[in-house]
Amino acid sequence: MHHFHALTVQSVTPLTRDSAAITFSVPTDLQETFHFAPGQYLTLRTQLEGAELRRSYSICASAQSQQQGGPLRVAIKRVNGGAFSNWALDNLQPGSSLEVMPPQGHFTMPLAPEAARHVLCVAAGSGITPVLSIIESTLLAEPNSRVTLIYGNRASGSVMFKEELENLKDRFLTRLNIVWVMSREAQDMPLFNGRIDGDKISQLLQHLVDAASVDTAFICGPQSMMLAASQAMQDAGIDKARIKVELFGTTQTGERAPRAVAVSDQGCEVTVVMDGAQRVFHMPKDKNLVDAALAQGIELPYSCKGGVCSTCRCKVTQGEVDMDINYALEDYEVARGFVLGCQSYPVSDTLVIDYDAEQH
Ligand SMILES: Cc1cc2nc3c(=O)[nH]c(=O)nc-3n(C[C@H](O)[C@H](O)[C@H](O)COP(=O)(O)OP(=O)(O)OC[C@H]3O[C@@H](n4cnc5c(N)ncnc54)[C@H](O)[C@@H]3O)c2cc1C
Ligand code: FES
Repeated sequence: MHHFHALTVQSVTPLTRDSAAITFSVPTDLQETFHFAPGQYLTLRTQLEGAELRRSYSICASAQSQQQGGPLRVAIKRVNGGAFSNWALDNLQPGSSLEVMPPQGHFTMPLAPEAARHVLCVAAGSGITPVLSIIESTLLAEPNSRVTLIYGNRASGSVMFKEELENLKDRFLTRLNIVWVMSREAQDMPLFNGRIDGDKISQLLQHLVDAASVDTAFICGPQSMMLAASQAMQDAGIDKARIKVELFGTTQTGERAPRAVAVSDQGCEVTVVMDGAQRVFHMPKDKNLVDAALAQGIELPYSCKGGVCSTCRCKVTQGEVDMDINYALEDYEVARGFVLGCQSYPVSDTLVIDYDAEQH
């Protein structure tokens, strides 16, 4: 579950000037390990100039294509000056081998063939990747459900998966509604011009989408858009518990201020439960769990180390930690004792953290 596996790149297909879809073939003996729920992501790892780089990329394939033995697919968009995205787009080609961690993440919902629901999705730019998987999987699995997608981009030329979305629209004419919002390309309806922000979502919920009919909403994109869209949905009466968000990164930068620790502090003894085995290590209280373990050669799962992706999610079953940034866990998960290892600092003198605890 938390270990990397070498997968072979099957294809690299340009999507726009600055993005490409990358598929991996999954050998038969790893099919179960790489079984995913729509909306989940993969963590990819490479070595670059002697340093290890890990980044997460959402799976953009439907649950049904997986059942038919289709390849795992992600899509990477080039970030200006970005280390991994540029390396991947410049170097990966069919036959390349890449280390991949099995699917993770909770930006998903169980598919229910008998459901008759309205799913509202809001995506901006590369935020379409998990949403595409959710849309296609839902439409295929639930014949009585419908989906509205509000998708923001600069202009048609920069839209990832434009053709695929148009094909989906043709296939599910009455059950898929796509609202294209463009910030640098004028469209006939003024409402469809500009950036997706709180105002835009409020207006769309007043004039085009009946908020009362929305059963579940998914939002994926930049932090400011995500927060504003979520608030606008709540203002329109959609319960926060029915709004799921996925953040790809944060504008917050910089290391946290060093934590004050009592001079007499003896540190903390941490027991790690993972894959049915236990390991114990001792750590200072001014370090987070992931870094402290790594410093002792113990690898705990992580990717972004910024409180965004949830790869480091574990459950505190004994003791107490203080968690810094959390963009990844929902309130109910925190209430059940789940924490982000990369953001958690021991408070108690002993701690038990469990990576095998139930996922939900
Ligand atoms: C759960 C999850 C799923 C993700 N899914 C996808 C996906 O499907 N497709 C995809 O392309 N990316 C996705 N990302 C983002 C991806 O993991 C990387 O963060 C992104 O590719 C940038 O990595 P980099 O190494 O190129 O940039 P870095 O070297 O990490 O960053 C370089 C600079 O760019 C800024 N930056 C980083 N990310 C972004 C961004 N997204 N937009 C603008 N500026 C940024 C940083 O602040 C930094 O200043 C996902 C992230 C998460 C947490
Ligand atoms: S490693 Fe991404 S949230 Fe901790």
